[in-house]
Amino acid sequence: MFRKAMLLAAFAIACAAGALDATEVDDRLLANEADGADWAGYGRTFSADHFSPLTQINAQNVGRLGLAWYYDLPKSSSVYGAPLAVDGVLYFGVGYTVIRAMDAATGRLLWTYDAKAAEAAGHKLRAGWGIRGIALWGGRVFSGTQDGRLIALEAKTGRLLWSVQTTQSGDNRYINGVPFVFDGKVVIGHSGSDFNAFRGYITAYDTATGRQIWRFYTVPGDPHRKPENAAMEMAARTWNGDWWRFGGGGGAVWNSMTYDPQFNRLYVGVGQGTPWNVLIRTRSRSDNLFLCSIVALDADTGRYLWHYQLNPGDMWDYDATSDLEVATLALGGKPRPVLLIAAKNGFFYVLDRQTGRFISANHFVTATWADHIDSRTGRPVENPQASYQSGGPALVFPGPVGGHAAQAMSFNPQTRLAYIPATDLGFIYAAPQGDPDKWEPRPGMQINVGVGARPSQLRVPPGRSMLIAWDPVGQHEVWSVALAGISNGGTATTAGNLVFQGQGVSGEFSAYAADDGRKLWSFDGQDGFQGEPITYLARGKQYVTVITGFRAVGGFNDASRTWDYNTQRRRVLTFTLDGTAKLPPAAPPYKPQFALDEGFQVDPQKAALGAAVVAGHCAICHGGALEAGGTAPDLRTSSVPVSTEALRAVLNGALVADGMPRFEELTSEEIEGIRHYVRQRARDSAAAAK
Ligand code: HEC
Repeated sequence: MFRKAMLLAAFAIACAAGALDATEVDDRLLANEADGADWAGYGRTFSADHFSPLTQINAQNVGRLGLAWYYDLPKSSSVYGAPLAVDGVLYFGVGYTVIRAMDAATGRLLWTYDAKAAEAAGHKLRAGWGIRGIALWGGRVFSGTQDGRLIALEAKTGRLLWSVQTTQSGDNRYINGVPFVFDGKVVIGHSGSDFNAFRGYITAYDTATGRQIWRFYTVPGDPHRKPENAAMEMAARTWNGDWWRFGGGGGAVWNSMTYDPQFNRLYVGVGQGTPWNVLIRTRSRSDNLFLCSIVALDADTGRYLWHYQLNPGDMWDYDATSDLEVATLALGGKPRPVLLIAAKNGFFYVLDRQTGRFISANHFVTATWADHIDSRTGRPVENPQASYQSGGPALVFPGPVGGHAAQAMSFNPQTRLAYIPATDLGFIYAAPQGDPDKWEPRPGMQINVGVGARPSQLRVPPGRSMLIAWDPVGQHEVWSVALAGISNGGTATTAGNLVFQGQGVSGEFSAYAADDGRKLWSFDGQDGFQGEPITYLARGKQYVTVITGFRAVGGFNDASRTWDYNTQRRRVLTFTLDGTAKLPPAAPPYKPQFALDEGFQVDPQKAALGAAVVAGHCAICHGGALEAGGTAPDLRTSSVPVSTEALRAVLNGALVADGMPRFEELTSEEIEGIRHYVRQRARDSAAAAK
């Protein structure tokens, strides 16, 4: 209370001076689960549960929720993540680390900082993404960049205070994850293990100076050298074969971490191996620690304390990187400190966070890779048919998209339910052609995960998505809402008995009753949602803010509604009770205007070469079939490939600042192939649309 009174006084002075002043975020603020005024960290507080104790907006009055203001965001291939709000100031980062601060009550822009990360990223830009969020600590804003920097800005002005390179020169590590802060330290991991082999790590820096404090490697180093410590010695015993010749086993910490003030620990979610296929990584299947594990580290030193491996010897891309949420659950009649994770592998896990011991797990979506998790050993009891290496090609659920990936789950300590943005989608895995010993990562950030092509007789059934309310004590679903498409935004939940979520395909932003899932309110956001909402107070009034924008490739969209890169309306939307602002009328549904170039003769052989180049270099943003998907322009409608010169200029870097990477190594033949493939796709699509 005292703190708040002081803050209000300071706030009044700042307002009188015409400026908003940011509170210094510290451990006390982040540990204060009871005070809902601010949303100062990614999951709001150290518990990281995306829960707010605010009740001004609640299940009784949410029908009165209206738009307070909106802010149009420029075109960007990555709009994904959540803002933070402290003392009525909203901070958020989108795209290639463009960070903004705004007056949360009015949407007035206070400052913008552009890290020019697309220009600095070189070949790392080929991975796409950009950032998914930022962190605040001690009057500073922290963010990673695509080119691997960690930067600190002054929260009041957006001025750059320091910048450190957290990656190694010539590596393919890039950053899109959110930094985590506690006790004057800022910790950042990196991404990239789908593209290239390296040794994953996270690094802690001093928030004041950027000086490195510690680094933790998630997988062992060169097997010809002595392991650095006992944890690496233990991990090294679970690897065999010549995985090291690629440069490392993977294990990127690209999304989730959680600081636990009770035990002064950091919990870290470790990603999958490089390549996905375990029998290329290691000669005989072995656990490969600490891939696909949750690892607890001493927060002061980064020293290993315990681990729990979700997928020993993973071969399905089951990163353990979905958010880690801290809770206290009544189990066996007594309160137990637990960690909750709705994992990519489709199981919901409850772990004892003091000891790392397995408590329980059950699948929340279709999960065919395992029958169950053995409660005695904590290890999965796998389904032999899911092993595509020994059992032939296999349709496995979930696929690499995951039952739940990076979109935030929330946990409400009052309903004792977790709200999972879930996806039910399989994938066909097959052993690759050729000798596994001859596998090599592909240069130039091309994906090569060691999985073969889908045999034509096997099909993946259409995916589904839903919002699931899950009881972690009973390990069962309490309610669920079916949603369109396969990908939706993250969730936030409040003491007002509410759950908020934006939807991917319909573009609706909705509020549900947290206890029974009744839909209470919704708003047409005019664009798909992937980020997660937050709620906070500004001048004593409760607001809800969410960012719109849909970043996907073709298949993620639903035929009924497509979010195109050029025409979708990316925005910051802020709501409050009785808000009266209105969005401009929605654009008509996307209807591609194909560039047909009638005089052009398509040569099927050249088009086939182009299709292969697109699959290797362009598909992750433009889609293999070049359909609109939000991440990048619909090339079937673009006039650029009509001209060889214009296409060459783009491939030589003309649009790098806007997120289109350089592909200077493509030959004239390959560029010609792309032109033929684009034209073929445009004409085929036009004919199909008739
Ligand atoms: C990492 C994501 C990414 C990859 C990979 C990528 N692009 Fe792009 N591309 C973009 C984005 C984003 C834009 C839009 C830039 C802008 O706003 O002008 C774009 C724009 C373009 C344009 C201009 C379209 C227009 O009408 O303005 C062409 C042509 C193009 N890309 C071709 C390709 C080709 C060919 C490849 C593969 C060799 C490729 N791109 C790979 C993201 C990507």
